[in-house]
Amino acid sequence: MTYRTIVVGTDGSSTARLAEGRAAQLAKAHDARLIIATAYRGDADRAAEVLAASADAAREAWPRVEVRAVRGEPAEAMVALSRDEGADLLVVGNKGMTGRVAFLLGSVPDLISHSAPCDLLIVRTSSGDAADRAGKAYRRMLVATDGSSTSLQAVRLAHRLGERIGAMPVLFYAGHPKTADIVFAEVAHAYLPAGMLQRSSSRGEPADAICRMAQVEDYDLIVLGNRGMLGGRFHFGTIPNRVSHQAPTDLLIVKTTSSEIDDLANGEGAVVRIDGASIAAYRDDAGTVHRLSARCPHMGCIVGWNADDRTWDCPCHGSRYDALGAVIHGPATTGLASADEAAD
Ligand code: FES
Repeated sequence: MTYRTIVVGTDGSSTARLAEGRAAQLAKAHDARLIIATAYRGDADRAAEVLAASADAAREAWPRVEVRAVRGEPAEAMVALSRDEGADLLVVGNKGMTGRVAFLLGSVPDLISHSAPCDLLIVRTSSGDAADRAGKAYRRMLVATDGSSTSLQAVRLAHRLGERIGAMPVLFYAGHPKTADIVFAEVAHAYLPAGMLQRSSSRGEPADAICRMAQVEDYDLIVLGNRGMLGGRFHFGTIPNRVSHQAPTDLLIVKTTSSEIDDLANGEGAVVRIDGASIAAYRDDAGTVHRLSARCPHMGCIVGWNADDRTWDCPCHGSRYDALGAVIHGPATTGLASADEAAD
């Protein structure tokens, strides 16, 4: 595993600078291209100033820095830029991820977390010790698994990332210890690097158990797969979604579900970029691919695939559509347009 292109979003704030620093560290470790990006609506000069200051700071850690100013809404701009640049990793601060109001209304990192086209690192820039932690390399990673094939991808990535940056991954299962033994045996059968430590806890919901373990045992980074993240923020129950709002430390959400039409399994959907447009692609149980515009007709946000319910969910105001684009509930009153009408 190696990250070749890393995008980090910034708004020029001091907390965003912490995320930029972490992105520069990882870019250095991977010999990667680092793109610092900001979104703007009107003041292009201000955006250029922000980027110039951020690039100067990042180059102290790593010289291969590029900058991009993208006109538009921040979340959409970062997601589209990451797709267009072929980024392997998108880095953002967690500003706005915590607190009930943010949870209900959504925030830039929250919106990004439901449509990121690549791995997503959410840097916990809001905690009191964030500046202190930002300057240090990751040492311990808590890698959550349920034994599924998709979670194994996250285990593999964490192992290789640990080797590259000198951090120790610890495998974690949230559930009964006897089930944990079975899961760890399954992981070992499929893939378990020699010497990877194992931990489990059955206290509380899985997301709570993951966050509590990370806090109590002082992990620097939680790693888990993105299964269930693409359903929009209304898909409250998924573990990565809940962890993303509660994590006491940095969180790496590994892209373990498909993002290319050719990769889609029967019954699976994904938002893909085709000729600059966001397409909601769904392969039905017979193998036929259906292509729709991913742009929500209500106010134009990009919908995400909800794997559990096989629906397209809009992260902005809650509209939902069935797999073929028909409205299930509003505020949208019309279904997703055909892909022919898609234009970004
Ligand atoms: S933009 Fe989709 S529900 Fe409002």
